[in-house]
Amino acid sequence: MIRVAIVGATGYAGVEALRLLHQHPAARVSYLGSHSQAGTEIGKLYPHLGRAGAAVLEPVDPERIAARADVALLSLPARQGLDLAPRLLALGMRVIDFGADFRLKDLEAYDRYYGGPHTAPELAAAAVYGLTEFHRQEIAGASLVANPGCYPTAAILALWPALRAGLVDPGDLVVDAKSGASGAGRQATPSGQLAEQEANLWPYKVAGEHRHTPEMEQELGLAAGEAARVTFIPHQVPMSRGLLATCYARLRAPLDEAAVEAVYLEAYGSEPCVQLLAGRLPSTRATLGSNLAQVAVRVDGRTGRLLAMAAIDNLGKGAAGQAVQNMNVMFGLQEILGLPLLGLVP
Ligand SMILES: NC(=O)c1ccc[n+]([C@@H]2O[C@H](COP(=O)([O-])OP(=O)(O)OC[C@H]3O[C@@H](n4cnc5c(N)ncnc54)[C@H](OP(=O)(O)O)[C@@H]3O)[C@@H](O)[C@H]2O)c1
Repeated sequence: MIRVAIVGATGYAGVEALRLLHQHPAARVSYLGSHSQAGTEIGKLYPHLGRAGAAVLEPVDPERIAARADVALLSLPARQGLDLAPRLLALGMRVIDFGADFRLKDLEAYDRYYGGPHTAPELAAAAVYGLTEFHRQEIAGASLVANPGCYPTAAILALWPALRAGLVDPGDLVVDAKSGASGAGRQATPSGQLAEQEANLWPYKVAGEHRHTPEMEQELGLAAGEAARVTFIPHQVPMSRGLLATCYARLRAPLDEAAVEAVYLEAYGSEPCVQLLAGRLPSTRATLGSNLAQVAVRVDGRTGRLLAMAAIDNLGKGAAGQAVQNMNVMFGLQEILGLPLLGLVP
């Protein structure tokens, strides 16, 4: 059994990791680390956890964590992993960071988007970006995996095959994406209140302001083999979880849909966590509670654009599910062990 520590266990992504790992046949949660609620049973905060809820939250003490766990899932806000991840790694643990501290190779971009200097540049260089489908081999040997952001997970899954095959211009990508409220975490803000959420829809952090922009550009540039430029427009939608990315890319040459579908089929035909839809379009509900991503692609021949869409559960494939997928790869387990792959309808 792999012994797993979840740190930041009271947050949405941490709790979802606990829920998923409760059913995992080859892993058990051996440590629930919390900065704010040490001493409390997790079930007092989240009664839906049933028997798993009897576990008591403990202080975030690296030595104690390393003595009791093989891998740590850090489900913490940005910059909180900069200090903790190096200490856990030095104690021989493997680490999967849900935050953004080790995702970006361009540390100037990190400093700009995440408020100040990166204090562990050698680890940022060594970390593997944890979009499993595209970095599987490196993840298998990694000590530190940087689990992707939720918006980048959907956008990259939608666009990667077209960029890798050179079908579209990487310098002119548009990602128009919508996320449920849990994407912003548990901390209440006025815009997270039901009174502001209900029957409302709004864009935010447009024109390169959102932190996920450089992450998308990094990975989509890797796929293309040249710099990628993304216009990213995130939106908040009135639902609790679920994320849909609708992406627009300029085709380099006219192509029929069958040719594009063949490229996507080659990329995703044998991927267990990506469902490539033919004749249907993705929907968030079909992915809820699961580690599934639904992807579909269309050609708008009239405008010369490729339309690529992906739906995920932001807390599933967008966070905790993908972390478990990466953990399985890191420990040589079957990649989908313990992971639900069917969504909830209705
Ligand atoms: N929500 C998503 O859909 C999603 C998707 C992908 C990635 N992520 C990333 O995953 C990480 C966790 O996200 P989340 O949505 O679970 O966030 P969250 O609900 O706000 O939970 C974060 C947890 O971090 C701990 N924490 C430690 N220091 C903190 C501080 N200074 N301020 C606030 N919290 C602090 C708290 O738990 P304790 O007090 O128990 O330690 C808190 O409950 C973030 O980096 C986020 O960007 C989230």
